[in-house]
Amino acid sequence: MTKAILRLAATNCGACLLLMACGLLAGPAFGQTVAGKWFAPWRVLDNGENDPMYLDLSQTGSEVTGTVTTIGHIRQVKGAIKGNHFELFSDSTRDNKPLVVGDLVSNQLHLTRDTDRMVAVPAKPGDEYPVYERISTPALHDVPYNGLAKTPPMGWNDWNEFQSKIDDKTVREVVDAMVANGMRDAGYIYVNIDDTWEGVRDPQGNLGPNRKFPDMKALVDYVHSKGMKFGIYSSPGPRTCAEYPGSYGYEEQDAKTYAQWGIDYLKYDWCGARMIYGHDSLRPLYQKMGDALLKSGRPIVYSLCEYGVGDVDVWGAQVGGNLWRTTGDISDNWASMISNIEKQAHTAPYAGPGHWNDPDMLEIGNGKMTDEEYRTHMSLWALTAAPLIAGNDIRNMTPAIKEILMNHEVIAIDQDVLGKQAMPVKSGDFETWIKPLADGSVAVGVVNLSASESMATIRASEVLPDAEVKSARDLWAHANVRFRDGAYTARIPSHGVLLLRVTAKK
Ligand code: GLA
Repeated sequence: MTKAILRLAATNCGACLLLMACGLLAGPAFGQTVAGKWFAPWRVLDNGENDPMYLDLSQTGSEVTGTVTTIGHIRQVKGAIKGNHFELFSDSTRDNKPLVVGDLVSNQLHLTRDTDRMVAVPAKPGDEYPVYERISTPALHDVPYNGLAKTPPMGWNDWNEFQSKIDDKTVREVVDAMVANGMRDAGYIYVNIDDTWEGVRDPQGNLGPNRKFPDMKALVDYVHSKGMKFGIYSSPGPRTCAEYPGSYGYEEQDAKTYAQWGIDYLKYDWCGARMIYGHDSLRPLYQKMGDALLKSGRPIVYSLCEYGVGDVDVWGAQVGGNLWRTTGDISDNWASMISNIEKQAHTAPYAGPGHWNDPDMLEIGNGKMTDEEYRTHMSLWALTAAPLIAGNDIRNMTPAIKEILMNHEVIAIDQDVLGKQAMPVKSGDFETWIKPLADGSVAVGVVNLSASESMATIRASEVLPDAEVKSARDLWAHANVRFRDGAYTARIPSHGVLLLRVTAKK
């Protein structure tokens, strides 16, 4: 307030000064700008750490640029101020939404981020975040294959549905539901907790869970007692995407902790590493954890999550990865699901037993797509040999969603031991995906991308160019169908799929 009063005094407006001091008149009309360094308390993480925002802004005319730093991210922002109201956008925010919205009120910024409101005041020395020391990256070598994930991993992960609202009790309930409803027996074996489980490091550097997971070892034991496996999440950066502690500088120690807890799967998410490294460090940093997991002595499936940048499909297996994300985060809508799967086309040559392209977890059952669209989602993931990691609230599923997730004939396409990934061929409103299978048959899926129902024809010469069709089966109708004159024609609803398994005469 002192600085504000001094600046106002220079305007020589006694009445304004009075109103401003009482907070009744606000605005940048007195020569104030948002330029400067600002500090605002923001939120407290589930591990008790404070996560304040530090803004370093410049203003030229109405244009505002700068950085917004929090405990786990440094975000470049850009925006505009009109009157005393401003909006700042960052590349990382989705759907064109501003990262931060604010009003300049006296010498404060009244900020809104998502639904959180806070007041930023001019920063004092020491309010800024410390700069992380850059640990040099190791020389490249090939990490030996761990022998796991011979077929694409299947299981469940909490993130798509629960995000930070996940805890020990919910995980146990999900596990119980997966046992009771048949998902475990259908092959969904991994129970993976995502970001926000992390506590803080103890003086010896050991990272334990936060209050939502009072005893991680006991939870892992519980999952194992049900005949399932347990997955956990971390980052090569000092912080994760949700800003919790990552494994930076503690790779071997964390891998050892995971082994002690009995962890079977690690999702390793790039996010926080951006504070220190560029994309040229992706491969050595993923290799570092690949080595650490092997050294832990426990078989742990290694899932890389770096959104498909830097040709991860090409080198993912060389750093010890069993699967790697090839896209940004999926959302529960048709456009996002289709866009993620279409990005798979160029990755197909790199899929095979032990190493898989991952177009992200399933949204099936999360409520924003139709059952027809969810059937297409499941079919496309199966055709591309993608990991089948359900992302819904398993405790609460409609019969239709259960049937989609547990269609054993579709799961068999995904889990086929040949491990081939289908590639798409587009023709008008249809997209056709063909996946060769170990027994010489092929799975063929035709997706209707249009907004209306349409007839589609599958020609035997296109799916089995060198053989005659012996039999064909519709995997959603669970019925055999007949090719006539070398073709099969069917009606496909908008955003629906026709999925056949076609067997050749030997
Ligand atoms: C990233 C990942 C998501 C999820 C979140 C957790 O966005 O891509 O799958 O793990 O981080 O913070």
